[in-house]
Amino acid sequence: MFERVPSAPPDPILGLSAAFAADDRSHKISLGVGEYRDASGKTPVLDVVRAAEARLLAAGSSKTYLPIDGTPAYGRLVRELVFGQDRADSADTVTVQTPGGTGALRVAADFIANHFPDARIWLPDPTWANHPKIFEAARVPCLSYRYYNSEAKGLDAPGMLEALQQTEKGDVVLLHACCHNPSGVDLDADTWQAAGKLLADRGALALVDFAYQGFGDGLEQDAAGLRLFCEQVPEMFVATSYSKNFGLYQDRVGALTVVTGSADRAETVLSQLKICVRTSFSNPPAHGSALVTCILSDEGLRADWRAELTQMRERINGMRQTLVEGLQRHGGSQDFSFITRQKGMFSFSGLDPKQVERLREEHAVYIVGSGRINVAGVTPDNVDALCRAVVSVL
Ligand code: LMR
Repeated sequence: MFERVPSAPPDPILGLSAAFAADDRSHKISLGVGEYRDASGKTPVLDVVRAAEARLLAAGSSKTYLPIDGTPAYGRLVRELVFGQDRADSADTVTVQTPGGTGALRVAADFIANHFPDARIWLPDPTWANHPKIFEAARVPCLSYRYYNSEAKGLDAPGMLEALQQTEKGDVVLLHACCHNPSGVDLDADTWQAAGKLLADRGALALVDFAYQGFGDGLEQDAAGLRLFCEQVPEMFVATSYSKNFGLYQDRVGALTVVTGSADRAETVLSQLKICVRTSFSNPPAHGSALVTCILSDEGLRADWRAELTQMRERINGMRQTLVEGLQRHGGSQDFSFITRQKGMFSFSGLDPKQVERLREEHAVYIVGSGRINVAGVTPDNVDALCRAVVSVL
């Protein structure tokens, strides 16, 4: 049987990490996968995570199964971070804990395929390379809407709203809550509001992917657009990840939250989400969510986490500035100021696939094929070599 199975290409993002590991050039630079690195180039375990791990170890927990939907305490904390205190206990909203943000998106995709069989999902152009694959795997047809204006290196708000006029009742529209991956270009408050009104009028359902809370302007600021939007629409999905803002990449900790519009519907929807979970991964992994719960439930640890998150955000923003100056110093003649306006971990450089390949072949610089640079991997030690390489392929 296996003779008939064709081989698949490497993953456009995680496949780069494997190629990087196999590269024996000592000066190689990895700016592919979206992982935070500190100034020494390491992806640290946050101090606050170590402190929470020590507490969990001392408490001597057991390794029994979690409930299918995760613990209620974790679900409540997820809703509090997304919507704020006021909506954390809304009876119309339910949360299931998932293995990372990808797990949340796949549960949403399975739910859509099971209950809205005619729905299509609209993805921004560009979007995270894994988005279409997740929905295609669940047999949900994908369409794309205009999002990024490559001339202006900014948001194409009129193009986006015009494209979303094509949605049909029952379609799903994926929006990035903040720190758009890969472009770093976010919706402004007016566009959030206009998109909310438009989707409510057309009877389309939003799925908001919220993987980078705290990496744009701050925890509350990064949720502001989504909260405005939420006032316009009666129902929505939100997929959350704590890989980046807690540095818990390998612990696979995330959640899918669904605003259903009524307490009765919330119960029904939860019963169906549990079927999606049970038939996919049975019940969620416990360690990462126990850490997040421990940190967010303790005032002191929560403050320490906020401080470490702020440090990560500020280091990335500092590197954006250093990158712009470095590109100019090494002879780049374009206006690179767009790099400092982009939010989150990534910079959408505008480099084309040929230039990306030259960076890798000639300079051992690894970035994603779309031209996405992980600014969180730029350090004082590699920024000069990076700028020299980029200018030489421009
Ligand atoms: C990324 O975009 O690099 C991250 O979200 C990691 C991943 O899983 O692709």
